Amino acid sequence: MPKRYRQQQAGSHSVAPMANAANHATSRAPRDQLDRPLGVLRLSLTARCNLACPYCLPDGVEPPGLLTLAQRLRVIEAAVALGVSSLRLTGGEPLLHAGLEELIAAVQPLRKQGLREIALTSNGALLSAERARALRAAGLDRVTLSLDGTTGAAVARMAGIGGSDPQGRERRGAALLAKVLAALEHARAAGFDPQQGELKLNAVIQHGANDDQLLPLAALARERGLELRLIEFMDVGNRNGWHPAAVLSAAAMVERIGARWPLEPLGRTAHGTASRWRYRDRSPEDGGAHLAVVASVSAPFCGDCNRLRVTADGIAYTCLFAAPGSGLDLRPWLQPDSPGVELREAIAARWSDRAARWSEERLEAWERGGPEGAVAAPAHAEMAYLGG
Ligand SMILES: C[S@@+](CC[C@H](N)C(=O)[O-])C[C@H]1O[C@@H](n2cnc3c(N)ncnc32)[C@H](O)[C@@H]1O
Ligand code: SF4
Repeated sequence: MPKRYRQQQAGSHSVAPMANAANHATSRAPRDQLDRPLGVLRLSLTARCNLACPYCLPDGVEPPGLLTLAQRLRVIEAAVALGVSSLRLTGGEPLLHAGLEELIAAVQPLRKQGLREIALTSNGALLSAERARALRAAGLDRVTLSLDGTTGAAVARMAGIGGSDPQGRERRGAALLAKVLAALEHARAAGFDPQQGELKLNAVIQHGANDDQLLPLAALARERGLELRLIEFMDVGNRNGWHPAAVLSAAAMVERIGARWPLEPLGRTAHGTASRWRYRDRSPEDGGAHLAVVASVSAPFCGDCNRLRVTADGIAYTCLFAAPGSGLDLRPWLQPDSPGVELREAIAARWSDRAARWSEERLEAWERGGPEGAVAAPAHAEMAYLGG
C-alpha cells in the first residue's frame, strides 16, 4: 500500500459493538472459512442503467436468463433462511426494473422469518413523487440515492454525460442534479425519514475528478438533514481505469471536511461498510448530523464482511472483487420443481467455502512494498452486475 494511505488511515477506524439488524447471526447462518456469518443479501435487479458513470461503466447489456419474480423470491427466501436480515435492492439502476414494487411487496411475509430491513440504492433520476410513494407503500424501509457533485459540470462528468459541447454537457448535468435533488424530497415526502437513517446520500469521490466537490456535497447534505456517505473509488470491474492515484482515502476526506466542520468519530458498526462521524455543531437528532466514509480501499473491512451478492441473472458472488465467472449459478436450483432445500444447501455450501478477503490482501501486498497497482486477482466482475 502506498505510504500516503497508511498515514491517512492511521487511527481513523474502530469497530463499535454490534448494534443493528444486520448483525443478527443465528444458528441457521452458515459460517465461512473465516467464521463470518451470512447477514446481508445485495440483489441486483438489472445490469442496465440510465447513466454511464465512468467509475462504474455499465455496458448496458442485460445478461440473458434474467431471474423471474418467483425465482428472486426463492433466492431471498433461501437467504433469509440462512440468516440474512438485510436485503438491498440494487443494479444497474433498480428503478428501471418495472417489477420493483411487486418484489418489495412480495417479500414482506419474510419479515416473520427474520428479514428486518429492505433497502434500495438508486441514482434517483427516475424517482418521481408517485414512485417514491409506491415504494414506501410496498414496504421499502430505506433509500440511498447517489450524487457525486453539486454543479452541472461535476454531475455531468461523474455521471458520464457525453457530447462535444461543454455547455450542453453542463446543462444536462444541471438537469440531472435537479432531478436527484427533487428525488430526495419526493422520498422524504413519501415517509423516508433521514433522522431514522431511512434516506441517505452516496457519493463516490475520485481524486482529481470530483474531490473539489467534497465540501459542497457535505454542505448540501447538512442543509437537507441527510447523512452523506463518501465512498472511496474502488477497483471493481475492469473498465473504469482504476489506479491507486485516483483514490482519495476516506481519512483524507474526513480531514478535509473536519477542517471546515469539526467531527467526532463514532466508529464502524460490526459488519457495516461505513465508519461514521458526527458534526460537533449538530445535535445527534439532526439527520444531517452524520458523515460516513466507506474506506474499502484504504482500510478494508473484509474481516467481518457478511454480504452475499446475487446478479440479475442469478449468479451468487461472495466478494465484490470476485473474478468474473467465479460466481455460483443458482439457476439449476431455481427450476419450478427444484426443492427449496437444495437451493439453501447450495448457497450454504458456497458460503461455507468462502475465504475471500481480497481488499485486505491487496493492502497487505502494498504494505510488503508491492507495486502501487498490485492486484491479487487478474480481473473483477463488473459493478453494474454486482450492484455495489
Ligand atoms: C453500482 S451502483 C447501483 C445502484 C444505482 N445505480 C446507484 O448508482 O446508486 C451502487 C453504488 O455503487 C457505487 N459505485 C459504483 N462504482 C463504484 C466504484 N468504482 N467505486 C466506488 N463506488 C462505486 C455507486 O456510486 C452507487 O452508490
Ligand atoms: S454507479 Fe449506478 S448510476 Fe452510475 S453507472 Fe453504475 S449503476 Fe449506473
